[in-house]
Amino acid sequence: MKVLITGGTGYIGSHTIIEMIETETFTPICIDSCERSTPETIDRMEKITGIRVPFYQENICNKNAFFRIFEEHKDIVGIIHFAAFKSVPESVEKPLEYYRNNLQSLENVLEACLKYNIPNLIFSSSCSIYGEVERLPVNENTPMGIPFCPYAHTKQIGEEMIRFFTQVNPQFNAVLLRYFNPVGAHSSGMNGELSPDKPNNLMPIITQVGIGKMEKLTVFGTDYNTRDGSCIRDYVHVSDIADAHVKAMQFLIEKRNSTNCEVFNLGSGNGISVLEMLHAFEEITGVKLNYKLGARRAGDVPAVYSDSTRAEKLLNWQCKRTLADMVGSAWEWEKRLGD
Ligand code: WQD
Repeated sequence: MKVLITGGTGYIGSHTIIEMIETETFTPICIDSCERSTPETIDRMEKITGIRVPFYQENICNKNAFFRIFEEHKDIVGIIHFAAFKSVPESVEKPLEYYRNNLQSLENVLEACLKYNIPNLIFSSSCSIYGEVERLPVNENTPMGIPFCPYAHTKQIGEEMIRFFTQVNPQFNAVLLRYFNPVGAHSSGMNGELSPDKPNNLMPIITQVGIGKMEKLTVFGTDYNTRDGSCIRDYVHVSDIADAHVKAMQFLIEKRNSTNCEVFNLGSGNGISVLEMLHAFEEITGVKLNYKLGARRAGDVPAVYSDSTRAEKLLNWQCKRTLADMVGSAWEWEKRLGD
Protein backbone atom coordinates (compact mmCIF):
# COMPACT_ATOMS: atom_id res chain seq x y z
CA MET A 1 0.00 0.00 0.00
CA LYS A 2 1.36 3.38 -1.09
CA VAL A 3 1.87 6.13 1.48
CA LEU A 4 2.96 9.66 0.53
CA ILE A 5 5.62 11.11 2.84
CA THR A 6 5.85 14.90 2.71
CA GLY A 7 9.21 16.13 3.98
CA GLY A 8 10.60 12.65 3.27
CA THR A 9 14.23 13.76 2.84
CA GLY A 10 14.13 15.40 6.26
CA TYR A 11 15.35 13.96 9.53
CA ILE A 12 12.25 12.09 10.79
CA GLY A 13 10.74 11.63 7.33
CA SER A 14 13.79 9.78 6.00
CA HIS A 15 14.00 7.53 9.06
CA THR A 16 10.29 6.75 8.66
CA ILE A 17 10.77 5.81 4.99
CA ILE A 18 13.64 3.50 5.98
CA GLU A 19 11.48 1.94 8.73
CA MET A 20 8.60 1.36 6.28
CA ILE A 21 10.88 -0.39 3.80
CA GLU A 22 12.76 -2.42 6.45
CA THR A 23 9.47 -3.65 7.98
CA GLU A 24 7.91 -4.18 4.52
CA THR A 25 4.69 -2.52 5.75
CA PHE A 26 4.05 0.27 3.25
CA THR A 27 5.42 1.53 -0.08
CA PRO A 28 6.65 5.09 0.47
CA ILE A 29 6.58 7.92 -2.06
CA CYS A 30 8.57 11.01 -1.13
CA ILE A 31 7.95 14.68 -1.79
CA ASP A 32 10.29 17.33 -0.42
CA SER A 33 11.36 20.82 -1.57
CA CYS A 34 14.80 20.14 -0.02
CA GLU A 35 14.85 23.72 1.33
CA ARG A 36 15.95 22.23 4.67
CA SER A 37 17.39 18.93 3.46
CA THR A 38 19.17 17.46 0.44
CA PRO A 39 18.18 15.12 -2.43
CA GLU A 40 21.24 13.01 -1.52
CA THR A 41 19.15 11.60 1.30
CA ILE A 42 17.34 9.54 -1.38
CA ASP A 43 20.72 7.98 -2.30
CA ARG A 44 21.51 7.27 1.35
CA MET A 45 18.12 5.63 1.91
CA GLU A 46 18.76 3.47 -1.18
CA LYS A 47 22.18 2.46 0.18
CA ILE A 48 20.57 1.38 3.46
CA THR A 49 17.47 -0.35 2.07
CA GLY A 50 18.37 -1.28 -1.52
CA ILE A 51 15.21 0.53 -2.66
CA ARG A 52 15.15 3.85 -4.58
CA VAL A 53 12.06 5.65 -3.33
CA PRO A 54 10.01 7.55 -5.96
CA PHE A 55 10.97 11.17 -5.23
CA TYR A 56 9.43 14.51 -6.26
CA GLN A 57 11.51 17.58 -5.45
CA GLU A 58 8.60 19.96 -5.09
CA ASN A 59 7.26 22.40 -2.47
CA ILE A 60 3.82 21.27 -1.33
CA CYS A 61 2.90 24.94 -0.98
CA ASN A 62 2.88 24.81 -4.80
CA LYS A 63 -0.52 23.15 -5.13
CA ASN A 64 -0.37 22.23 -8.83
CA ALA A 65 3.01 20.52 -8.49
CA PHE A 66 1.83 18.78 -5.33
CA PHE A 67 -1.47 17.57 -6.82
CA ARG A 68 0.28 16.09 -9.88
CA ILE A 69 1.52 13.30 -7.60
CA PHE A 70 -2.06 12.17 -6.93
CA GLU A 71 -2.82 12.20 -10.66
CA GLU A 72 0.19 9.92 -11.17
CA HIS A 73 -0.41 7.64 -8.15
CA LYS A 74 -4.13 6.81 -7.90
CA ASP A 75 -3.57 4.20 -5.15
CA ILE A 76 -2.19 6.26 -2.29
CA VAL A 77 -3.91 5.10 0.94
CA GLY A 78 -2.45 7.65 3.31
CA ILE A 79 -0.26 10.70 3.82
CA ILE A 80 2.32 11.26 6.55
CA HIS A 81 2.82 15.01 6.68
CA PHE A 82 6.27 15.98 8.03
CA ALA A 83 7.07 18.94 5.77
CA ALA A 84 7.38 22.01 8.02
CA PHE A 85 9.96 24.38 9.46
CA LYS A 86 10.75 23.28 13.02
CA SER A 87 13.26 25.46 14.80
CA VAL A 88 12.06 27.17 17.99
CA PRO A 89 14.56 30.08 17.87
CA GLU A 90 14.23 30.57 14.10
CA SER A 91 10.43 30.78 14.40
CA VAL A 92 10.86 33.57 16.98
CA GLU A 93 13.01 35.49 14.46
CA LYS A 94 10.89 34.75 11.36
CA PRO A 95 7.25 34.28 12.43
CA LEU A 96 5.61 35.01 9.07
CA GLU A 97 7.79 32.44 7.25
CA TYR A 98 6.67 29.85 9.81
CA TYR A 99 2.95 30.68 9.59
CA ARG A 100 3.02 30.79 5.79
CA ASN A 101 5.05 27.62 5.23
CA ASN A 102 3.65 25.41 7.98
CA LEU A 103 -0.02 26.34 7.53
CA GLN A 104 -0.16 26.67 3.74
CA SER A 105 1.45 23.25 3.35
CA LEU A 106 -1.06 21.64 5.72
CA GLU A 107 -3.97 23.35 3.96
CA ASN A 108 -2.82 21.86 0.66
CA VAL A 109 -2.48 18.41 2.25
CA LEU A 110 -6.06 18.58 3.55
CA GLU A 111 -7.32 19.80 0.17
CA ALA A 112 -5.54 16.87 -1.49
CA CYS A 113 -7.18 14.44 0.96
CA LEU A 114 -10.57 15.84 -0.04
CA LYS A 115 -9.94 16.08 -3.78
CA TYR A 116 -8.28 12.65 -4.15
CA ASN A 117 -10.13 10.79 -1.42
CA ILE A 118 -7.09 9.95 0.69
CA PRO A 119 -8.66 8.48 3.84
CA ASN A 120 -5.70 8.43 6.28
CA LEU A 121 -3.49 11.26 7.54
CA ILE A 122 -0.69 11.24 10.09
CA PHE A 123 0.30 14.75 11.23
CA SER A 124 3.70 15.58 12.66
CA SER A 125 2.85 17.57 15.77
CA SER A 126 4.93 18.51 18.75
CA CYS A 127 5.09 18.56 22.54
CA SER A 128 5.64 22.31 22.17
CA ILE A 129 1.84 22.67 21.86
CA TYR A 130 1.67 22.15 25.66
CA GLY A 131 3.59 25.37 26.35
CA GLU A 132 4.70 25.79 29.97
CA VAL A 133 2.95 23.12 32.03
CA GLU A 134 2.29 22.98 35.77
CA ARG A 135 1.87 19.22 36.11
CA LEU A 136 4.38 16.83 34.56
CA PRO A 137 4.47 14.45 32.81
CA VAL A 138 1.99 15.70 30.19
CA ASN A 139 -0.57 13.37 28.65
CA GLU A 140 -2.92 13.84 25.70
CA ASN A 141 -5.59 15.39 27.96
CA THR A 142 -3.22 18.12 29.12
CA PRO A 143 -4.70 21.22 27.53
CA MET A 144 -2.74 23.24 24.96
CA GLY A 145 -0.84 26.01 26.72
CA ILE A 146 0.06 29.50 25.64
CA PRO A 147 2.44 28.87 22.71
CA PHE A 148 6.00 29.92 23.57
CA CYS A 149 6.96 30.51 19.94
CA PRO A 150 5.44 30.71 16.44
CA TYR A 151 6.64 27.16 15.69
CA ALA A 152 4.58 25.80 18.58
CA HIS A 153 1.67 28.02 17.52
CA THR A 154 1.70 26.60 13.96
CA LYS A 155 1.46 23.10 15.45
CA GLN A 156 -1.46 24.13 17.65
CA ILE A 157 -3.28 25.70 14.70
CA GLY A 158 -2.43 22.67 12.58
CA GLU A 159 -4.00 20.31 15.09
CA GLU A 160 -7.15 22.42 15.24
CA MET A 161 -7.34 22.63 11.42
CA ILE A 162 -7.30 18.83 11.26
CA ARG A 163 -9.81 18.50 14.13
CA PHE A 164 -12.33 20.75 12.37
CA PHE A 165 -11.61 19.13 8.99
CA THR A 166 -12.28 15.60 10.32
CA GLN A 167 -15.41 16.78 12.16
CA VAL A 168 -17.02 17.84 8.89
CA ASN A 169 -15.48 15.00 6.83
CA PRO A 170 -16.21 11.83 8.81
CA GLN A 171 -14.81 9.65 5.99
CA PHE A 172 -11.30 10.87 6.90
CA ASN A 173 -9.17 9.56 9.75
CA ALA A 174 -6.27 11.45 11.28
CA VAL A 175 -3.63 10.73 13.91
CA LEU A 176 -1.77 13.63 15.49
CA LEU A 177 1.66 12.54 16.80
CA ARG A 178 3.14 14.90 19.39
CA TYR A 179 6.91 14.29 19.33
CA PHE A 180 9.08 15.25 22.22
CA ASN A 181 12.76 15.65 21.29
CA PRO A 182 13.85 13.30 18.49
CA VAL A 183 17.62 12.67 18.51
CA GLY A 184 20.10 10.09 17.25
CA ALA A 185 20.74 8.46 13.88
CA HIS A 186 20.09 5.23 11.97
CA SER A 187 21.96 2.22 13.41
CA SER A 188 23.82 1.79 10.09
CA GLY A 189 25.50 5.18 10.65
CA MET A 190 24.41 6.08 7.10
CA ASN A 191 21.50 8.41 7.90
CA GLY A 192 20.97 11.04 10.54
CA GLU A 193 20.15 14.67 11.22
CA LEU A 194 21.49 17.04 8.53
CA SER A 195 21.50 20.69 9.40
CA PRO A 196 22.30 22.51 6.12
CA ASP A 197 23.31 25.66 7.98
CA LYS A 198 24.17 26.16 11.66
CA PRO A 199 22.07 23.70 13.72
CA ASN A 200 19.71 24.99 16.41
CA ASN A 201 18.99 21.72 18.19
CA LEU A 202 21.01 20.61 21.20
CA MET A 203 22.19 17.18 19.99
CA PRO A 204 23.71 18.20 16.62
CA ILE A 205 25.36 21.15 18.37
CA ILE A 206 26.83 18.80 21.01
CA THR A 207 28.25 16.49 18.35
CA GLN A 208 29.62 19.42 16.29
CA VAL A 209 31.39 20.78 19.37
CA GLY A 210 32.59 17.26 20.15
CA ILE A 211 34.14 16.83 16.72
CA GLY A 212 35.51 20.38 16.60
CA LYS A 213 33.22 21.80 13.90
CA MET A 214 31.96 24.31 16.45
CA GLU A 215 34.26 25.88 19.04
CA LYS A 216 31.94 26.04 22.07
CA LEU A 217 28.40 25.32 23.14
CA THR A 218 26.32 27.65 25.31
CA VAL A 219 23.89 26.25 27.86
CA PHE A 220 20.89 28.54 27.36
CA GLY A 221 19.88 29.31 30.90
CA THR A 222 20.76 27.74 34.26
CA ASP A 223 18.32 29.73 36.36
CA TYR A 224 15.18 27.75 35.56
CA ASN A 225 13.15 26.17 38.36
CA THR A 226 14.52 22.67 37.58
CA ARG A 227 16.79 20.29 39.50
CA ASP A 228 19.99 21.77 38.08
CA GLY A 229 18.65 25.05 36.66
CA SER A 230 18.85 24.00 32.99
CA CYS A 231 15.86 23.08 30.81
CA ILE A 232 14.46 19.57 30.93
CA ARG A 233 13.37 17.71 27.77
CA ASP A 234 12.21 14.21 26.84
CA TYR A 235 14.65 12.80 24.27
CA VAL A 236 13.54 9.94 22.01
CA HIS A 237 15.54 8.02 19.41
CA VAL A 238 14.51 9.04 15.90
CA SER A 239 14.11 5.38 14.89
CA ASP A 240 11.59 4.91 17.72
CA ILE A 241 9.70 7.93 16.39
CA ALA A 242 9.83 6.41 12.88
CA ASP A 243 8.46 3.13 14.24
CA ALA A 244 5.55 5.03 15.79
CA HIS A 245 4.58 6.47 12.38
CA VAL A 246 4.42 3.04 10.80
CA LYS A 247 2.34 1.76 13.72
CA ALA A 248 0.03 4.80 13.54
CA MET A 249 -0.63 4.24 9.81
CA GLN A 250 -1.34 0.54 10.51
CA PHE A 251 -3.69 1.66 13.33
CA LEU A 252 -5.72 3.68 10.82
CA ILE A 253 -5.60 1.15 7.95
CA GLU A 254 -6.84 -1.56 10.33
CA LYS A 255 -9.58 0.86 11.53
CA ARG A 256 -8.58 0.46 15.20
CA ASN A 257 -9.25 4.15 15.86
CA SER A 258 -12.38 4.98 17.89
CA THR A 259 -12.61 8.60 16.71
CA ASN A 260 -11.45 10.03 13.39
CA CYS A 261 -8.96 12.39 15.03
CA GLU A 262 -6.70 10.57 17.54
CA VAL A 263 -3.80 12.15 19.45
CA PHE A 264 -0.67 10.42 20.81
CA ASN A 265 2.34 11.64 22.75
CA LEU A 266 5.63 10.15 21.56
CA GLY A 267 8.10 10.47 24.40
CA SER A 268 10.26 8.25 26.59
CA GLY A 269 8.80 9.67 29.80
CA ASN A 270 12.30 10.47 31.08
CA GLY A 271 13.10 14.14 31.55
CA ILE A 272 16.78 14.94 31.00
CA SER A 273 18.29 18.39 31.60
CA VAL A 274 20.67 20.12 29.20
CA LEU A 275 23.57 19.73 31.67
CA GLU A 276 22.72 16.05 32.20
CA MET A 277 22.75 15.52 28.41
CA LEU A 278 26.18 17.17 28.12
CA HIS A 279 27.57 14.94 30.88
CA ALA A 280 25.94 11.85 29.36
CA PHE A 281 27.64 12.63 26.03
CA GLU A 282 31.06 13.01 27.72
CA GLU A 283 30.56 9.76 29.65
CA ILE A 284 29.26 7.69 26.70
CA THR A 285 31.76 8.92 24.10
CA GLY A 286 34.71 9.82 26.33
CA VAL A 287 34.85 13.17 24.51
CA LYS A 288 35.18 16.33 26.62
CA LEU A 289 32.80 19.15 25.61
CA ASN A 290 33.77 22.82 25.55
CA TYR A 291 30.76 24.73 26.89
CA LYS A 292 29.80 27.79 28.86
CA LEU A 293 26.73 28.77 30.87
CA GLY A 294 24.73 31.55 29.19
CA ALA A 295 21.44 33.43 29.13
CA ARG A 296 18.04 31.90 28.42
CA ARG A 297 16.92 31.41 24.79
CA ALA A 298 13.66 33.07 23.68
CA GLY A 299 10.89 30.55 23.11
CA ASP A 300 12.11 27.88 25.53
CA VAL A 301 9.85 26.25 28.11
CA PRO A 302 11.56 25.22 31.38
CA ALA A 303 10.53 21.56 31.40
CA VAL A 304 8.39 19.16 29.42
CA TYR A 305 8.31 15.37 29.33
CA SER A 306 5.75 12.81 28.35
CA ASP A 307 3.30 10.24 29.61
CA SER A 308 3.08 8.02 26.50
CA THR A 309 0.99 5.19 27.92
CA ARG A 310 -1.76 5.90 25.35
CA ALA A 311 0.60 5.17 22.42
CA GLU A 312 1.94 2.11 24.25
CA LYS A 313 -1.58 0.74 24.71
CA LEU A 314 -3.27 1.64 21.44
CA LEU A 315 -0.36 1.69 18.99
CA ASN A 316 1.59 -1.06 20.76
CA TRP A 317 4.55 1.36 20.65
CA GLN A 318 7.45 1.57 23.12
CA CYS A 319 10.73 3.45 23.16
CA LYS A 320 13.20 0.63 22.58
CA ARG A 321 16.44 2.66 22.24
CA THR A 322 18.31 3.94 25.27
CA LEU A 323 20.06 7.25 25.96
CA ALA A 324 23.35 5.51 25.09
CA ASP A 325 21.83 4.50 21.71
CA MET A 326 20.72 8.09 21.10
CA VAL A 327 24.04 9.67 22.02
CA GLY A 328 26.18 6.92 20.48
CA SER A 329 24.33 6.90 17.14
CA ALA A 330 24.36 10.73 16.92
CA TRP A 331 28.11 10.69 17.56
CA GLU A 332 28.76 7.93 14.96
CA TRP A 333 26.76 9.94 12.41
CA GLU A 334 28.71 13.15 13.15
CA LYS A 335 31.99 11.28 12.68
CA ARG A 336 30.73 9.87 9.34
CA LEU A 337 29.74 13.37 8.20
CA GLY A 338 33.30 14.41 8.79
CA ASP A 339 34.65 11.63 6.54
C1 WQD B 1 16.61 21.60 23.74
C2 WQD B 1 17.17 22.31 24.97
C3 WQD B 1 17.62 24.65 24.63
C4 WQD B 1 21.01 24.36 21.96
C5 WQD B 1 12.70 20.62 19.78
C6 WQD B 1 12.48 20.67 18.31
C7 WQD B 1 11.05 20.99 18.00
C8 WQD B 1 10.13 20.10 18.80
C9 WQD B 1 10.42 20.19 20.28
C10 WQD B 1 9.44 18.20 17.51
C11 WQD B 1 16.55 23.70 25.14
C12 WQD B 1 18.89 23.87 24.99
C13 WQD B 1 19.93 24.02 22.77
C14 WQD B 1 22.17 24.94 22.54
C15 WQD B 1 21.13 24.79 24.69
N1 WQD B 1 10.24 18.74 18.41
N2 WQD B 1 20.02 24.24 24.11
N3 WQD B 1 22.19 25.13 23.89
O1 WQD B 1 13.75 23.69 21.66
O2 WQD B 1 13.09 21.52 22.83
O3 WQD B 1 12.63 21.90 20.36
O4 WQD B 1 11.78 19.80 20.44
O5 WQD B 1 8.57 18.68 16.90
O6 WQD B 1 10.87 20.75 16.63
O7 WQD B 1 13.30 21.66 17.76
O8 WQD B 1 14.95 21.49 21.19
O9 WQD B 1 17.29 20.85 20.87
O10 WQD B 1 16.56 23.23 20.28
O11 WQD B 1 16.69 22.54 22.66
O12 WQD B 1 21.19 24.98 25.92
O13 WQD B 1 23.17 25.29 21.86
O14 WQD B 1 18.56 22.52 24.78
O15 WQD B 1 17.60 25.91 25.28
O16 WQD B 1 16.38 23.93 26.52
P1 WQD B 1 13.57 22.22 21.61
P2 WQD B 1 16.43 22.04 21.17
